[in-house]
Formats: sequence, C-alpha cells, structure tokens
Amino acid sequence: MFNREEYEKRVAWYQEARFGMFIHWGLYAIPARGEWVRSVEEIPEEEYLPFFDEFNPVDFEPEKWAKAAKEAGMKYAVMTAKHHDGFCLFDSKLTDFKATNTKAGKDLIREFLEAFRKEGIKVGLYYSLLDWHHPDYPHYGDWHHPMRNCEEIKDVERDFDRYLEYMHGQVKELCTQYGKLDIMWFDFSYGEMTGEAWRATELVKMVRSYQPDIIIDNRLEVSGEGFGSIATDNPGDFSGDFVSPEQIIPPNGLVSETGRDLVWEACITMNDHWGYCAKDKNFKPAAMIIKKLVECVSKNGNMLLNVGPDAKGNIPNESLKILKEIGTWMKKNALSVYGCKSSGLAKPENGRITGNGNKLYYHIMENAIGAVPLYGIPKDKVKSMRLLFDGSELKMSGGWCESNYPDVVFVNVSDTPYLPDEVDTVVEILLTEE
Ligand code: GLC
Repeated sequence: MFNREEYEKRVAWYQEARFGMFIHWGLYAIPARGEWVRSVEEIPEEEYLPFFDEFNPVDFEPEKWAKAAKEAGMKYAVMTAKHHDGFCLFDSKLTDFKATNTKAGKDLIREFLEAFRKEGIKVGLYYSLLDWHHPDYPHYGDWHHPMRNCEEIKDVERDFDRYLEYMHGQVKELCTQYGKLDIMWFDFSYGEMTGEAWRATELVKMVRSYQPDIIIDNRLEVSGEGFGSIATDNPGDFSGDFVSPEQIIPPNGLVSETGRDLVWEACITMNDHWGYCAKDKNFKPAAMIIKKLVECVSKNGNMLLNVGPDAKGNIPNESLKILKEIGTWMKKNALSVYGCKSSGLAKPENGRITGNGNKLYYHIMENAIGAVPLYGIPKDKVKSMRLLFDGSELKMSGGWCESNYPDVVFVNVSDTPYLPDEVDTVVEILLTEE
C-alpha cells in the first residue's frame, strides 16, 4: 500500500540533489554505434559474442568518472548493471555473460559503487527488464528483440517464468551484495510487457525489503513515454517513486490530476546516444545544458545527464569538457539548484526563477538595455539582493529610465552590454518572511 508520508521522506534527498550522472556502458561500446545496436541492426547472438571475448577496458578507473561527476556538481549517479543486450557488468552468480568473465576480469559495478560513494555521491543502478541474451526472453515477434523477424526460431519454446526467476534473482543479488543503493532504475515496459507481466508487485516488495530507503523509477509500468500511476493520486504497488521523461523536459512541469507536484527526472544524453557512439559528435553545448538543468529545477524536476564511456573505459573528451564547464558554473551558482524548486512565479521572458524557502534565484539569461527587469518579483517583499557568484550587493535601480514602471524591480548587473555570466547570471533575492 502506498504511504504518502513515507514516500515524501524517501524522495526528500533526491529532490534536493537535482542533478545526477547516468552512465551507459557495456559491450556495445565496441561496435560503438549506440546501446541499441544489436536490435537496430538485428545482429544475431553469434555475431555479438565476439565483443564479449574482446572486451578489455584497460583504462577503466571509476575514480576518474566519480571526480568528473563531483566536479560538475552531480549529487548522484546511476550506472547500467545490465542493459538490454543482457551483458552484466556485475558478478552475477546466475549467468556467465558477465564482466568478470571478460578480460576486464572484475566486477565493474562494485568498483563503480565504491568510487562514487567515496566522493560522497549517491548511487543507483540501472537494470534492463529486457534481455536479448537470455534464451527464455521472447525472441520472435517481440517488439525489440534482435531476432524478432527471424522465422527459423519462430517455434522455439521459451519459458518466460524462467526468465522472470532469473531477472528477480539478479535484482536480488544487486540489492543484497552491494551495500546501500539509493536508486533502482528499471527499464522498461512496453505493450503487454508491463506491471505484473514482470511480477512487479513481488519485485518491488523484494527490493524494498532489502533496501527500505531506495528510490525506484516508474518503468515497471511505462517507458520514457507515459507517466504511470505515480502520476495519479492513487499510486499502486509498483508505481515507483518518480516519473522518468526521456529526452524531453516536460513543457509545464508535471502535476497529478489534483494538481499535486510530481517527482520527476528528465534523462538526457549529451549527444544523441546513451551508449558510446564513435561518430556521434552532436554534443549539446554546456551553456545549453546549464540552462536546461535550471529549467528542470524551475519545474520541480531533476536532470540525469548521460555519459557513455568508450570500449577502453574512458568518458569521451567532449563529455569531460562539458562536465567541466558545467562545474565552473555550478561552483558559483549551485545554491540556485540544490534544494530549489519552482518559485510559483511565471517564467520571466529574460530567464527563469528557482526558489528555496524565502530565497528566490532569478536566472538572467538575456541581458537588457540598461538595468535588468526582474519580472514578477514582489517589490515590497524584497529584503536584499546579491549576485550569487560573488555575493556582491545589488540595489534596486531607480533611474529616470525606469520611472514609468514603478512596480518592476530593476537591477544593474553590469556596465557593459554583456552579462557577468553570459550563460546565466543568478541574482539571489532574499524576501521578507510573511
Ligand atoms: C530507453 C532505451 C535505453 C536507455 C534508456 C534511458 O528506454 O531503451 O537504451 O537506456 O531509455 O532512459
């Protein structure tokens, strides 16, 4: 039974954290055409297995990943313990198709967890409900399986219950052998493969029995599409804890039927693939990602930003550079992100507003001619204003140019046509308590 009080407690840290790292890594880093390569190109098992023999991530140093995440200001990280291809990065007793049996020779998940915990970053695991390696997972006729169109295997008998035993068993391993996990990120439901098809009530019960504080996504019911019952006022047993919009920031944030704010996390790639894709250089500029992170927060959401390490275990240089630039901004402005949420004010035309208690953070993303209008800020309640990046005082500007607009708060943030921070100059506004 859903207990709202427990729920609110469980998700409190997560809503404070706001910014996390997603890590998609596996054998697919070798073909380097994204994590769906086996499905998209309908690659048969025997043509995929050579990557298993070859996998040898000589540069794998999760400490470096953790440092990059920390520097960027990320508070949690979620890594693929198993993706759709079925390859396990952890040392599962239930399969041979695992990292410990490759040249990597170690439990990559254990090392990921240790490295990130050491940096004080909360940790989560992604676990694919789909499995294109397991013989009992539907092949022919499935929506996504690489062999979905292969007539020859049409009549092969498969025992889905046996797969479910395997899947539940692996989730149990993850929940019992790896210490405290902060997030379990199941992926994903489709068609009839949803909810109790996964024996989801039992699964969630088991997960929570070993990891009582864990936060679970909503994909035992849906995918990146759809909201699931966590978005209603009557969440079910396997509704999970947050909505997981994928490659989109909900235009108006997300609320339930009765207008209650929902907990959500937008997962976003830096380029156009989750898993490493050698030719995909379509990286979003750091400036854009910073603005989009602020957008998420201003709509009560989190951002889970993905990196896809290459076959050797390196996060691509482009991604590292982006993380660094985000970090430079975060170092000065993180107070306008962590613990912040919607301000309740309309989005102003020159930026966005986040809020935390009696503080508002006005994110100026576009400069004005002269003093900058802080749209919607209640003038009579402003106690003080500071530039967040250096703490310097900002006074309300009251020049003759502004005198026709007595209700609007204006501030002078720079004497040049350029904002002190061209991406997002944050004004911290302290309001008088009512
Ligand atoms: C999708 C994809 C997958 C990716 C995930 C991240 O559902 O199947 O490759 O891991 O989204 O949200």
